[in-house]
Amino acid sequence: MDALWGLTLALAASLAAAMPPNILLIFADDLGYGDLGSYGHPTSTTPNLDQLAAGGLRFTDFYVAASVCTPSRAALLTGRYPVRMGLYPGVLYPSSRGGMPLEEVTIAEILAARGYLTGMAGKWHLGVGPEGAFLPTHQGFHRYLGIPYSHDQGPCQNLTCFPPATHCEGMCDQDLVPIPLLANQTVEAQPPWLPGLETRYINFARELMTDAQHQGRPFFLYYASHHTHYPQFSGQNCAGRSGRGPFGDSLMELDAVVGTLMTIIGDLGLLGETLVIFTADNGPETMRMSHGGCSGLLRCGKGTTFEGGVREPALAFWPGHIAPGVTHELASSLDLLPTLASLSGAQLPNVTLDGFDLSPLLLGTGKSPRQSLFFYSSQPDEVNGVFAVRHGKYKAHFFTQGSVHSDTTADPVCHASNPLTPHEPPLLYDLSEDPGENYNLLMHTTEVTAEALQALKQIELLKAQFDSSMTFSPSQMNLGMDPSLQICCQPSCNPRPSCCFCPEPQH
Ligand SMILES: *[C@@H]1O[C@H](CO)[C@@H](O)[C@H](O)[C@H]1NC(C)=O
Ligand SMILES: *[C@@H]1O[C@H](CO)[C@@H](O)[C@H](O)[C@H]1NC(C)=O
Ligand SMILES: *[C@@H]1O[C@H](CO)[C@@H](O)[C@H](O)[C@H]1NC(C)=O
Repeated sequence: MDALWGLTLALAASLAAAMPPNILLIFADDLGYGDLGSYGHPTSTTPNLDQLAAGGLRFTDFYVAASVCTPSRAALLTGRYPVRMGLYPGVLYPSSRGGMPLEEVTIAEILAARGYLTGMAGKWHLGVGPEGAFLPTHQGFHRYLGIPYSHDQGPCQNLTCFPPATHCEGMCDQDLVPIPLLANQTVEAQPPWLPGLETRYINFARELMTDAQHQGRPFFLYYASHHTHYPQFSGQNCAGRSGRGPFGDSLMELDAVVGTLMTIIGDLGLLGETLVIFTADNGPETMRMSHGGCSGLLRCGKGTTFEGGVREPALAFWPGHIAPGVTHELASSLDLLPTLASLSGAQLPNVTLDGFDLSPLLLGTGKSPRQSLFFYSSQPDEVNGVFAVRHGKYKAHFFTQGSVHSDTTADPVCHASNPLTPHEPPLLYDLSEDPGENYNLLMHTTEVTAEALQALKQIELLKAQFDSSMTFSPSQMNLGMDPSLQICCQPSCNPRPSCCFCPEPQH
């Protein structure tokens, strides 16, 4: 590790943490369980992430709370199921009236109250709203630099994805403004030059970390990368270099960003005082064949409640505090807020939380308190409730449905053409023996043990209790669209949306 980032780990670790730890939360986009070298991908170029995995705690059973962007990001930042805050069905759009309600309390808010300098780079996707009312600067982030939603939520035909001038794949979303790059709430470029984007984010990150150190405060940096969401892009150091095509180049750039961030932290002498967490929002989007990610041995991907949609790579790295290793304990992005509150001494919000404090697991003093996880479809509704439940090593599917995001995989069960299907009795899998969810225990009667039947009973009870105790907030998505809410670099220009065009020079 010393060789890779040029750090002196022993020295960094020996500096006692007089302050709460710095926190770097790196969140990838549409990255699958099988995409990293450390999770078994044969051709990915991810040396820096693999180094975090080797020197930190690597999770095999880490889940996100939703299989699409907006709700997964909301759960990550609040420790709450997205239906509690009305973030369903689907995702937010550049014209959406709704957003994550401002009364929701984010990790950034609790850490800011604890004295942290907080910043976010990258993809927000929790709403823009009138006058940018839902942007990160209103949810606890002192600083923001990024594209406030997916970079395919605008026309792509004039975007450069790979230098010198390779156009992005496909058209992306038409009849919308070009994607804006915001600094706090000011448009920096519309559209930005994608091959130079990560360099801007890195500079932002360096400034945040340096300023925090000068101010004698810890930092919280939420680096929500656009990699590896469609359309794939990367700068000149990665374009054409990964050996895994455009997706691999994009992933390689994400990995290089991780390496650069670690080098900055090392250069500031903060390695032993910085907790680094890496995970991703949902499973791979496989609707464009090999141009999306890979869920490895798991079934399906984005948009589904099969394992490939919701189980993610996850790494926690904190030299001198977290021992290197692999854990099979159950964990979720919902657990980050309570865990980070515990590790930093920040106050928990006075709300119903769905997460658990994993600090004993991270610090090697105990097990995960989490026993179960509940999975809603990407279009949740109160009548059906949760689609699937994981409890211990078992997972039961009460409903299954394919998704367009998981089209073009070999398994037709994953595709959009597979309709909503109730299962009575549910499909039951033993994930310890069958992580790919191939063999329904109840279909293979010789496989059903008394233990499995007992687990099924318990899961049915847990689902009933969970569904009856859950309160859905009114849907933010159903507030509809207002095209005038789309961000425009020349607010009174005509005709919209095409006049909102203030491109960055290509460098
Ligand atoms: C955002 O606002 C903060 C606080 O005023 C400022 O320090 C920062 O430079 C601004 N811009 C960005 C990109 O963070
Ligand atoms: C793309 O750029 C051309 C000019 O180079 C312009 O006429 C056209 O409107 C642009 N299209 C979009 C969707 O921005
Ligand atoms: C927490 O919220 C509940 C209801 O919203 C309120 O009754 C209670 O006083 C609050 N507790 C604290 C410590 O603020």
